[in-house]
Amino acid sequence: MADAVNNPLPIVVLISGRGSNLQSIIDSVAAGDLPVEIRAVISNRPGVQGLQRASQAGIFTRVVDHSHYPDRAAFDKALQVAIDAYQPELVVLAGFMRILTPAFVHHYQGRMINIHPSLLPEFPGLNTHQRVLEAGRAVTGATIHFVTEEMDGGPAILQARVPVLAGDDAESLAARVLEQEHRMYPVVIRWYAEGRVRLDTERQVRFDDVPIKRPRQLDSEADAPC
Ligand code: GRF
Repeated sequence: MADAVNNPLPIVVLISGRGSNLQSIIDSVAAGDLPVEIRAVISNRPGVQGLQRASQAGIFTRVVDHSHYPDRAAFDKALQVAIDAYQPELVVLAGFMRILTPAFVHHYQGRMINIHPSLLPEFPGLNTHQRVLEAGRAVTGATIHFVTEEMDGGPAILQARVPVLAGDDAESLAARVLEQEHRMYPVVIRWYAEGRVRLDTERQVRFDDVPIKRPRQLDSEADAPC
């Protein structure tokens, strides 16, 4: 657990692309709102915008290019070695677009979180916004969850709800959801740093030590970011 001032929580952020969620974390740390030390940003793709964002903020970057490994297991092993060199207490997946092996996930059980642009368990996987539109949903959103073996299936910590508006296409909907995503990671990472949220041995999310049956909701009174 992090002492907010003297002992910030060490984290590593994994990305595959644009890195706008990474930027929201960087900005919160820079503003003094997040008791976190981003020890490294690791990408499975070279040359992506998120790596530039990290470099501009003076954060170590690494590329572990999945295309250089013969299979998933070999890539995940190399990724694990790269991550563990920085000794993070939390691994944050921010637009990291790789399916992870059970061995990798198990290694970080309770110490790895992901953000997904839907109200999980609905619409896991890719092309989320298009599928939400095709299903005619009036409301969508985003979810932060602990990572387990099931893709986008781990216990949910926080959700934000976002209306689907007449005339939306996948792009406009993605942009509206992304605005909420950018508010979410700073909230959840702060909870983790303060020891308020954890995954227990029953794979149940505990908030202030109480098991929660449903994810917390952004903008419910208690969870509004300061
Ligand atoms: C976000 O929508 C996130 O939920 C999903 O991938 C996107 C990443 O965007 N997993 P960015 O790279 O953080 O800008």
